[in-house]
Amino acid sequence: MKNVLVVGGGGREHAIIMKLAESPSVGKIYCTPGNGGIAKYAQCFDVGATDIDGVVALAERLSPDMVVVAPDDPLVMGMADALEAKGFMVFGPKANAAMIEGSKVFSKELMKKYNIPTAFYEVFTDSESAVKFLKKQNSYPAVIKADGLALGKGVIIAQNEEEAVKAVHEMIDELKFGKSSSRIVIEEFLTGPEVSVLSFTDGKTIVPMISSMDHKRALDGDKGLNTGGMGTLSPNPYYTEDVAKECMEKIFLPTVNAMNAEGRTFEGCLYFGLMLTPNGAKVIEYNCRFGDPETQVVLPMLNGDLYEIFEAVCRHRLSGSDIKWHKGSCACVVMASGGYPESYPKGLEINGLNEKGQLDECTVYHAGTKLNGDKFLTNGGRVLGVTARGEDLAAALKNAYNGVEKISFEGAHYRKDIGQRALKALG
Ligand code: AMP
Ligand code: GLY
Repeated sequence: MKNVLVVGGGGREHAIIMKLAESPSVGKIYCTPGNGGIAKYAQCFDVGATDIDGVVALAERLSPDMVVVAPDDPLVMGMADALEAKGFMVFGPKANAAMIEGSKVFSKELMKKYNIPTAFYEVFTDSESAVKFLKKQNSYPAVIKADGLALGKGVIIAQNEEEAVKAVHEMIDELKFGKSSSRIVIEEFLTGPEVSVLSFTDGKTIVPMISSMDHKRALDGDKGLNTGGMGTLSPNPYYTEDVAKECMEKIFLPTVNAMNAEGRTFEGCLYFGLMLTPNGAKVIEYNCRFGDPETQVVLPMLNGDLYEIFEAVCRHRLSGSDIKWHKGSCACVVMASGGYPESYPKGLEINGLNEKGQLDECTVYHAGTKLNGDKFLTNGGRVLGVTARGEDLAAALKNAYNGVEKISFEGAHYRKDIGQRALKALG
């Protein structure tokens, strides 16, 4: 039996762990730091996900057969490199490949150099030139992005000059995101449906997973602030076979080849954030890891052994894998703390879950929970991802919302319209 250590502690990690637990070859699963719901499926430790020395020491103590590093920060900081240097088999890219998410400037330059379709852009390191450019361009909305990681908050869609100039000053002069925003990208505003495609790649072969759709805004009708994601569904109805073929030819393979040509072979899960513009599919962003909450709808659709796939990636034999997906759809509705994505309370009791932190009819991925005796308490902005499959999207949504209605905590907030746009697209 193979023992696995998973680094991270959100809904994505819970989904990875529950899928790994299905594998006949997986024995013990460890997680650090984990959360209340994960603790029912894996032995949790209190080493932080960005504590590289701490995670290496934990791995040396536990001697797992594989370490899965799920979040962006530790990957960009070189956790996979540090673990591999100690001889561990690691699912997750090395730092030089994680740069594809760690620096927007790097990823934009990569796409330009290798003709991978993306929005036009300019890079700035001083606010004066950036403001001059905005005034000359005088085209809104303008898209302003911090170069480095910014907890998913580094993108501003400015509706007018005032908002744009403010964003530039906050990022470059006031270092709103620290060093991450000392360099910025100003890029063309694109329009069209968004699609998330996660993929497995060992640097030679790339296998896209089933597509998905995120819902980033906090409120119904895509209103309110940007969040980490309030709900997802899979497959994404806009992602037709023709679009998939176009993306493979013009985006996926060229990206894997470009990373190899740069000496930055990407091994792990490469995430493509795409926009289907009137001029074809374009890359909005790359992530060097599984998306959250996309993973919560993609992995339940996987009809296969996740451990075997991870191992095939690590051993560079992905070309021999036959990866299959279930028919039907999957939907995830995020239940968040009142006030999220701004300030919110923690420590509120969650009602309606069984002793495993689950529901009989749905899978509940815990994002921000902790255990207090046998009670689950809220412990983050996004608290739970209530997830269900169905024979089609409408059925999956119905099942997920039925689950949501059984769960309560004070101030709980969730979107009532997850999947509505997708249902319209299906006609
Ligand atoms: P990101 O954090 O890079 O995923 O960006 C957050 C969101 O901003 C994306 O999901 C898009 O909805 C939007 N966005 C980013 N770049 C652009 C762009 N060039 N044009 C239009 N919308 C964009
Ligand atoms: N859901 C988008 C992300 O994981 O960045």
